Order: sequence, then structure tokens, then C-alpha cells
Amino acid sequence: MKSEDSEPATRRPSQQADDGGPTGARTVSSIEELQRAVNDCRRCGLWKSATQAVPGEGMAPSPLMLVGESPGDSEDLKGHPFVGPAGAVLDRALQQAGLSRETVYLSNCVKHFKFEQRGQRRLHIKPAPAEIEACHWWLNEELRLVAPKLVMALGGTAARALLGHPVIVSQVRAQPTRLTPTMSVWVTVHPSFLLRVPDEAQRQREFDRFVQELRDALEWIKTH
Ligand code: URA
Repeated sequence: MKSEDSEPATRRPSQQADDGGPTGARTVSSIEELQRAVNDCRRCGLWKSATQAVPGEGMAPSPLMLVGESPGDSEDLKGHPFVGPAGAVLDRALQQAGLSRETVYLSNCVKHFKFEQRGQRRLHIKPAPAEIEACHWWLNEELRLVAPKLVMALGGTAARALLGHPVIVSQVRAQPTRLTPTMSVWVTVHPSFLLRVPDEAQRQREFDRFVQELRDALEWIKTH
């Protein structure tokens, strides 16, 4: 992994199509425009079974941007990021850190829900590397328009999307990596991990650690 001092890097998705042509990918001039444009995206096949795209939302520009994996069932139905169980944990953590959805920009690295139908239930499936790469078009557009100083990658999928290679979250957690001269990435756990810790006391400790990381991220922004 690159250190704070290593050469800055920017990532562009491999297939560039900047004209809104068959893939629907185009350069946008505002988050509002992106929120509309992403619904026309055909850069991968996930749009076919999803209800709608789920773009990011919140403050833009913002010094702090949070990036999750991909929308879940609730997000797909409502069209907003993190409005299901993981979102409730995230809201609580943001609040305890003195933040809110309105004071950060919140998004996902993949904008369509990927799932497997099991009877009445739609079970979330992790997006494939090709889908993450395809959706990087929109993540890049959000990064450009939000211009965050610090991006928190919530979990391994977001970390992979932002850093461009797989990482083990526990090994890189809380060590900001500079991505461009003006933007760094801070990898942490996904809020759904905080729901899955079986032991209650351990779950609370993990939640407190996550809140502390959000506070530390704010402090980092002030001092860098
Ligand atoms: N998990 C995510 O990664 N993103 C959401 O929007 C919801 C759940």
C-alpha cells in the first residue's frame, strides 16, 4: 500500500465513454445532475434487476466523504444510501461523533443493488470486481464534485474501489493513505460488521472504536 509520502495517484475506470452514449456514463457538473444521470447507467448489468440507482447524497463539497459497498434491499426500494439496518448504526455513530448525514457526503462504490432472490427475500450479494470497476466512473465524478480532504472507506469493497487493489481492513485500518495531493483515504469497517459481532460487550467495543475513528478523522481533517 502507498504511504502518505508516496506519489499521488488518480484512478479512471478502464472503459471511458464521456458522451452519455450506450453506457450512459458522462461527466456531470453537479451532484444533482449525477443523481439523475446515474439512473441511465448501463456500464454493467446490475441496473436490469435493481429498482433504481442509489446515488450518494449529503453535503457537497464536503471535507469528509463516506463510501460504503452497494445499496441493500431498503436502499434499492427507497433510492437513498444507508437507510436500512446498517444505516441506523451509521446514523447513531455519526451522531455520537458530532456528525450527521447533512454534514458529510455519503455514498457507495457501486450504485445498484445486487441480489439473489430466495423465495420472497432478496439477499444482498457483494459486487464483482468488474462491477466495482464499471461503477468507478460515478465514484470518480462524486470525488471530483465533493472534493473531500478525507474519504472513509467503509469496509473492504469500498477500500478496494478507492485504493485500486484488495486490502485486509484490519491491517490497514486507521492509517490514512494519500490518493491525490489533496485527498486521502481512511479505511475502516463497514457498519454492517458492527451488527454482526455476536458478543454484546464486544459489539459495543467495536461500535465505540468506530465512533472514535470518526472523531479522529475529523481531527485529522483539521490538522492536515
Ligand atoms: N450497505 C452499504 O454498503 N450501503 C448502503 O447504502 C447500505 C448498506
